[in-house]
Amino acid sequence: MTANEGGALRAPKGTNDILPPDSFRWEGLVRLAGDTFERAGYAPAETPTFEDTALFERGVGNTSEVVTKQMYSFEDLGGRSLTLRPEGTAGVVRAVIEHNLHRGALPVKLHYGSWMFRQERPQRGRYRQFFQVGIEAMGTDSPSVDAEVIEVGDRFLRSAGATPTLLLNSIGHPAADCKIGYNQVLVDFLRAHEGELAPEDRKRIDTNPLRTFDSKEAATIAVMASAPVITDHLCSACAEHFEAVKAHLDALGVDYSLEPRLVRGLDYYTRTAFEFVWSGLGSQNAMGGGGRYDGLSEMIGGDPLPGIGFALGVDRILLALDEHGIQGRPKIDVYLVAQGDGAVAEALVLATRLRRAGIGADLDHTMRGMKGQMKEAARSGARFAAILGPDELAAGEVTLRDLTSGEQQRVPATDLESRVKAG
Ligand code: HAM
Repeated sequence: MTANEGGALRAPKGTNDILPPDSFRWEGLVRLAGDTFERAGYAPAETPTFEDTALFERGVGNTSEVVTKQMYSFEDLGGRSLTLRPEGTAGVVRAVIEHNLHRGALPVKLHYGSWMFRQERPQRGRYRQFFQVGIEAMGTDSPSVDAEVIEVGDRFLRSAGATPTLLLNSIGHPAADCKIGYNQVLVDFLRAHEGELAPEDRKRIDTNPLRTFDSKEAATIAVMASAPVITDHLCSACAEHFEAVKAHLDALGVDYSLEPRLVRGLDYYTRTAFEFVWSGLGSQNAMGGGGRYDGLSEMIGGDPLPGIGFALGVDRILLALDEHGIQGRPKIDVYLVAQGDGAVAEALVLATRLRRAGIGADLDHTMRGMKGQMKEAARSGARFAAILGPDELAAGEVTLRDLTSGEQQRVPATDLESRVKAG
């Protein structure tokens, strides 16, 4: 329900309005992500907000909770089953195949910043509409790409002011002996402990045994503490790949914690799996995660196209940064304070001239008193207030006040631009 009977409508449950001043921090973080990713050769990509439901059923997987319990699916007027995307990777891989980008130079390296939709039970850090920034590198299974992707994510989070712990694992490859052989070892273990597992996890033995590691149920967590782990059962190709990824990360100076029970919640993962966690976030402690998805393209009907990527939750990163008091960047350099007849018109002309010169400028349109306008000037984040009173207006001047030092000086209005630029 979004409405009280006859009352004001409210945003749907689990969604957030992003308004000033938080919206500045939001925008700054998303821009930092794009800059960081593009400086590593990842080009921007946008894909549709909704896709054929089958894309997620086949790509993200019918045994993942995201698909079975959380999708916003609907039938459109043409009777097609569509779904608001719960994640970005399946759509990006679909777009690459559909437009034959994989027939050009490899790897195809893309980044995105997009809204995602999952019908989860809302709580702090878990919403029904949330924003992810992410990158995907498609077309090679070279371990150097795994390390590149992980380092880019780690560096972005650190440059944003976060201090995540990087959890790293390899979950093997379904086409290799390791996963098939390990699956049997794990199923045998789970069968032997079936009675001790939480009832809702028992059916996972048949559908996706690896996912039992992901359970939030205390009974299952206790059982899984002694379960055999996949890293002890990797085939030689997967073990070599994992060793190479770790060696690259060591060479790059990226710290990681090996976490053999990290399995991730989506069905497409193979080999490298990782998560950036931060304990200050409480139970929703993952700032982001990703991994390899070497079989995803074939799952959705495409050519073989190994890939790796990650997505980071912007809502959660900002929650983490909140605790450290990271601020957004104000964009107003000068606030024009207009007093008296004709002053607003002149202030608008001056503000426009400054804006055309690339300087951030704002003014009062509502004829507030001097005190009220100075308060607005402070609130705007401007470095300077340019005061246009009757005296200044008559002399063709402004009083330029440095809002940090409090120093002020009368200057010709025509000099305003150069004075502000000079700082
Ligand atoms: P994911 O682990 O499902 O991976 O989501 C990545 C991140 O998105 C999470 O760590 C979290 O920060 C954020 N997130 C997920 N669900 C919510 C929610 N309900 N509310 C707020 N934030 C949320 C993926 O989505 C994969 N596509 C990542 C990937 C890219 N793997 C390979 N390439």
